[in-house]
Amino acid sequence: MPTEFGLLERLRRLNDPEIGRSLGELDMLKGATITPAGTTVRVELPTPAYPGRERITTAIQQALAEVSDVGPVSVAFTAVTKGKNTGGSIGLKVKNVVAVGSGKGGVGKSTVAATLAYGLKTLGASVGLMDADVYGPSIPHMVGGGGLPAAVKHTLPNGETMDRIVPVEVDGVKVISMGYFLKPDQAVIWRGPLLHRAITQFLKDTDWGELDYLIIDLPPGTGDVSLTISQLLGLAGAIVVCTPQQVALLDALKAISMYRQVKIPLLGIVENMTGEIFGRGGAQQTAITQGIPFLGEIPIEAQIRVRGDEGRIASLFNDDSPARPHLLHMCQRAAMEIAKSLLSTPSLPTLEIL
Ligand SMILES: Nc1ncnc2c1ncn2[C@@H]1O[C@H](COP(=O)(O)OP(=O)(O)O)[C@@H](O)[C@H]1O
Ligand SMILES: [Mg+2]
Repeated sequence: MPTEFGLLERLRRLNDPEIGRSLGELDMLKGATITPAGTTVRVELPTPAYPGRERITTAIQQALAEVSDVGPVSVAFTAVTKGKNTGGSIGLKVKNVVAVGSGKGGVGKSTVAATLAYGLKTLGASVGLMDADVYGPSIPHMVGGGGLPAAVKHTLPNGETMDRIVPVEVDGVKVISMGYFLKPDQAVIWRGPLLHRAITQFLKDTDWGELDYLIIDLPPGTGDVSLTISQLLGLAGAIVVCTPQQVALLDALKAISMYRQVKIPLLGIVENMTGEIFGRGGAQQTAITQGIPFLGEIPIEAQIRVRGDEGRIASLFNDDSPARPHLLHMCQRAAMEIAKSLLSTPSLPTLEIL
């Protein structure tokens, strides 16, 4: 009869198909149970958005095929999201803070931020969505829900009280936006210090609770908000959204160089609105030449606009909308890039003010 220890020893050196390191090194093997009816191997994934379950199962079954007396082999998966947990100093219990940016507006940045949040939630993660696009906060409109954040008083251990903001929970995602605090059509001119204060308050004074991922919809272009955020906490990284046209790609290049300057890790590029109208492939080419991961393309599709306009963006994951597989693919790629970057840069990125 084989032993649990013996089986796990055989599996330790198998390579994880997504990350390319061994299951042992990644500490993914959590045990094995051998019974006369068969063997179950327990594997813990670094994110519930992990896309390679079948490949791990096949690799483990093949590795144990020559071992006698194990019977049929199955794999039981659990997932515990890994993260940098960098928000501790400001009381944030979020494993990974991900910024979504673009060189210019109108390319689908908010659509990507919102679908990233709802896709990761659909795949099993706990997720928050922060609309930091102070110039055009569109997240409340896209996610719908209609509620408003509440302010509650918290009593600190020393007896002082402080106001805390409770995010609006819409379809299982905790949402906060400047749009909840502004009247429609209210134009706001943000001066630097005010903007810095507002963003800081959103991050510090909101009761996010414990989250696997906090997705931040950044204002287009400028680096101010990304700078503020990276001064407060270490971002897991930024995702750049662009459309396939050459002009849009030039704007994306500017955004990429801006993130590089402020030392925010680039998780990858998403091509949005791929199709007959704008073309396809430009973003992937840019990703290759810039040495940045390509996170996938999202087709231009009426349902994406319609659901966003109706405040039902989350519903893109509830039915067989043609966009669904593309959106889930993007979420999986993003989650894996976050997991990989944790291995290559386990320490906090430090920010140099230029
Ligand atoms: N893949 C897509 N297919 C169709 N319409 C899209 C797609 N992505 C975004 N849109 C639409 O384009 C408009 C701009 O998108 P939005 O996410 O608000 O851009 P941004 O935040 O960059 O300004 C919205 O009306 C949105 O519904
Ligand atoms: Mg937007």
